Amino acid sequence: MAEVRSAILGTGRAYPEGILTNADLERMVETSDEWITTRTGIKERHRASESEYTSLFAVEASRKAIERARIDPIDIGLLICATVSPDQILPSTGCLIQAELGAHKAAAFDLAAACSGFLYGLTMADKMIKTGQVRYALVIGAEVLSRYVDFTDRSTCILFGDGAGAAVMGPAEGDRGVLATRIYSDGRYAEQLYSPGGGTRIKPTSETLSQGLHYFKMKGNELFKIAVRSMADVSVEVLKEAGCRAEEVKLFIPHQANQRITDAVTSRLDVDPSIVYSNIAYHGNTSSASVPIALDECVEQGKVSEGDLVLLASFGGGVTWGGALIKW
Ligand code: COA
Repeated sequence: MAEVRSAILGTGRAYPEGILTNADLERMVETSDEWITTRTGIKERHRASESEYTSLFAVEASRKAIERARIDPIDIGLLICATVSPDQILPSTGCLIQAELGAHKAAAFDLAAACSGFLYGLTMADKMIKTGQVRYALVIGAEVLSRYVDFTDRSTCILFGDGAGAAVMGPAEGDRGVLATRIYSDGRYAEQLYSPGGGTRIKPTSETLSQGLHYFKMKGNELFKIAVRSMADVSVEVLKEAGCRAEEVKLFIPHQANQRITDAVTSRLDVDPSIVYSNIAYHGNTSSASVPIALDECVEQGKVSEGDLVLLASFGGGVTWGGALIKW
C-alpha cells in the first residue's frame, strides 16, 4: 500500500473543575506563592475529586476530538491512552475508554512513557497510518497525577496537575501532516522521577502505603538540566529531518513542566519567544496530557493556521523524550 502522511484531524481537552491554587498549597506545606511562581511559573492546577478518575477526562477530551475530526468512533483502528495514572492495572484505561466511546474496532492499550507519552503515541499512530495498518487513530494523554503526589512534599506537590488531551489522527491531505518524529529514552536515569512502591517489586501493603512508597519521588535539579538538553536536541533533530529551520516554526509547544525549562529550551533553540506556547500558570505539569491540552488550546485560540509548521517537544520520567514537526 502506498505510504500516506498522517495529520491531526481534531483535538479535545478536559480537566476537573477542582482547582488547587498556590494559596491553597501555602496552607498545606511550607511554601509561598512567590517561591512557586518564580521557580516554576505555576499559579494553579486542576485537581480531581475523590470520585473522579483518569478515563472520565480522557473520554470527554476524546469525544471533542472525534467530533471536531468528524469521524465515526467505529472507524478508529488504534486507540492509545498515554498515562502513568491509569484507572486500574487491568484492563487498560485504553480499553475502558474504547468501551465508552463505542470505538469497538480499535486496538486499544495504555502507553507508559510519563510526560512524553503523547509524543510516543503520536509517533506510533503516525507509523500505523503511514503504513496503511489503520486509517484513523485516537491518541490520548490523560492523568490524575494527584493520586500519586505526596501533599506533604513541597518539592513535588506544587508541580503536578490533572487533566486529559486527545487528538484524532488520520490520512493527510496535500502536503500537510506529520513531517518528522523522534522518540528516545534512557533508563539509567530512572530514579530521577519514580514511584518505588505499588507494583510487583514493592507490592502495595498497608505498610508501603503508610510509608508513602506509591508517591512520586523526584530529583528536580538533575531533571531540569536533562529536560532542557533533551527537548532542545530532539527539536533540532526533527527540524533537520524535515529539512526545516527553527525560524520557519510558527508555533512551538514544549511539554509544560516548568516555565524556566520552557524559557531555557526557547533560548537554546533560538526561536522567537512569541511563538512558544505556555499554559503552565493554569495547569501545572499534567504529564502526558500537557502537550495535547496545549495543542487544543492553541487550535481554539486560532494560534495555528493551515500550512503552519508546529513543533512539539516533550520530556518525562524514565527518562523519556520526543519531538514532532507537523505541517498543520
Ligand atoms: N517552596 C519553598 N521552598 C522550596 C520548595 C517549595 N515548594 N521546594 C523546594 N524548596 C526549597 C528546597 O528545600 C531548597 O532549600 P534549601 O536550599 O534550604 O535546601 C531550595 O528551595 C532550592 O531547592 P531546589 O530544588 O534547588 O530548587 P530549584 O530551583 O531546582 O526548583 C524545582 C525546584 C522542582 C521547581 C525545579 O528543580 C524543577 O522544576 N525541576 C524539574 C522538575 C520537573 O519538571 N519534573 C518533571 C519532569 S517532566
